[in-house]
Amino acid sequence: MKKIKIVFLGFFISVGCHTMAAQTYARNGMVVSSSKIASEVGIEILKKGGNAIDASVATAFALAVTHPTAGNIGGGGFLVYMDSSGTTTTIDFREKAPIKATSDMFLDEAGNLPKGINLYGRESTSNHVGLKSVGVPGTVAGLYMAHKKYGHLPWADLVQPAIDLATNGFELTWSLARNANYFDANTKIQFLKDYFRKDNGSLTTFGEIWKQPELANTLSIIRDKGHDGFYKGSVAKEIARYMKENGGIITKKDLQKYTAVERKPIKGTYKGYDIYSMAPPSSGGVALVEMMNLMELADLDAIEFNSTEYVHLLAEVMRRAFADRAEHLGDPDFNLNTPVQKLTSKEFAKMRFENIDWSKASPSDTTKFGQIYDGSSTTHFSVIDKTGNAVSLTYTLEHPYGSGMGSPKLGFIFNNEMGDFNPIPNETTSSGLIGTKPNIIEPEKRMLSSMTPTIVAKDGKPHLIIGSPGGKTIINTVFQTVLNVLEYDMRIDRAIESMKIHHEWLPDIIEYEEHLLSPDTKRNLELMGHQLIPVSSLGALMGIVIDPKNNILIGASDSSRPDGAAIGY
Ligand code: GLY
Repeated sequence: MKKIKIVFLGFFISVGCHTMAAQTYARNGMVVSSSKIASEVGIEILKKGGNAIDASVATAFALAVTHPTAGNIGGGGFLVYMDSSGTTTTIDFREKAPIKATSDMFLDEAGNLPKGINLYGRESTSNHVGLKSVGVPGTVAGLYMAHKKYGHLPWADLVQPAIDLATNGFELTWSLARNANYFDANTKIQFLKDYFRKDNGSLTTFGEIWKQPELANTLSIIRDKGHDGFYKGSVAKEIARYMKENGGIITKKDLQKYTAVERKPIKGTYKGYDIYSMAPPSSGGVALVEMMNLMELADLDAIEFNSTEYVHLLAEVMRRAFADRAEHLGDPDFNLNTPVQKLTSKEFAKMRFENIDWSKASPSDTTKFGQIYDGSSTTHFSVIDKTGNAVSLTYTLEHPYGSGMGSPKLGFIFNNEMGDFNPIPNETTSSGLIGTKPNIIEPEKRMLSSMTPTIVAKDGKPHLIIGSPGGKTIINTVFQTVLNVLEYDMRIDRAIESMKIHHEWLPDIIEYEEHLLSPDTKRNLELMGHQLIPVSSLGALMGIVIDPKNNILIGASDSSRPDGAAIGY
């Protein structure tokens, strides 16, 4: 550890209130999410005596109302939980392929992946378009399981704030209003065209109250009936009817059979810290731990942060982890011999580290692995309560607003997560298509994810709670943020906002955040054989650091999510 040291108490500390500063400080509890309203809902639950799981359930349901881009009950995700004794577990509520799904369900007669028109009115591959792209949703099952096992307050009290928000409405934010206008002009999907309309048919505009009575009704059934409120009874019946009438393949049986799964976390270490993250069917934990192991082998005292050498090292580490991800990872219930232990071991890292060429880029093997089909609308939140229980939760609809489709009677949007499966068995190309076996579509299989909800602990207590949206970039933005905090002692807001890069093996390209990488460094990297392309931003991290010395919680939400907030008390 070296370089910039945090002087925690050198900044203005406001305990007991929410500040609008880049960082929020508190003593008792904190929620950091992509929606200020949802963070406030979580904090109210903590103040009422709820624990971190209770606050997470309430925040997740609230996000389904206030952040419909990715907050959801029609998608799925992962929750990592560390209780105050340091025991860590995870809940997997990833979507599943429907029973009627087949490995070639998105291919045409010639075996190609055709294009369709997506919710934005643009061309997209068929595995992301329409109701066949919908995976069996897992969110309600996952939240219900988390609450049943680890919650404290009554379930109904945790769903009610979301019902109130959907019933009474809330002021439409600028970013949601922009989405509303965009869909009004561009989408052909009627459900989405109507999504932001008022009863009189006019579009809700920035600052106007937006109500969602149908969603409120669906949530009321979930409040009263719990898991079964979604997976059985009138909601399940309506989902199945809507699917059948509109070309979808999810049936009542798919819904009845869906269960969330409690799994052991992936555990790694980095210079005295313990890293807990999500196991397959997410690739996030395995890849994160592999990359941290590789970084531990580098002499970081001799490499300047964000220098040419540093960015080269990051890219080479990412290249290797993503090649391993593509080759080995998929739903563990279908891939019984996934080499998780090996991929996350220090010995494997040594072998992977040895062949890094410090003078030039090592080209990705174009005859092998890679993947381009991945969405980026996901959302993450971090929670800690006053006894030190911590939750790191990431969930998703895959693309922003998922498939864009939903039953008008139910008022929520279905995911398009089937696009996270490898679409063409055995076909892998240098442009990034992947066809490796572990993630080929099979009935009731979970599609491979990149979500990386993570808790880093020191001496058995949470030190950093972090995660991000961003498709495959999630793994790399979480990786760099964890490094920023653990290796460079960066303040959490700076760790989140600092320049990020992304390399995913194939295509063999470094993406970097436009204007944040020095042109000299870029030129040097190009001379080393790297190809670089700018992107507007990478990640939207929501993090909390716990400063044990001063007993202070410090949170920050990424400025790329203007509706987000870290709220503490
Ligand atoms: N849909 C994004 C992910 O699961 O990684």
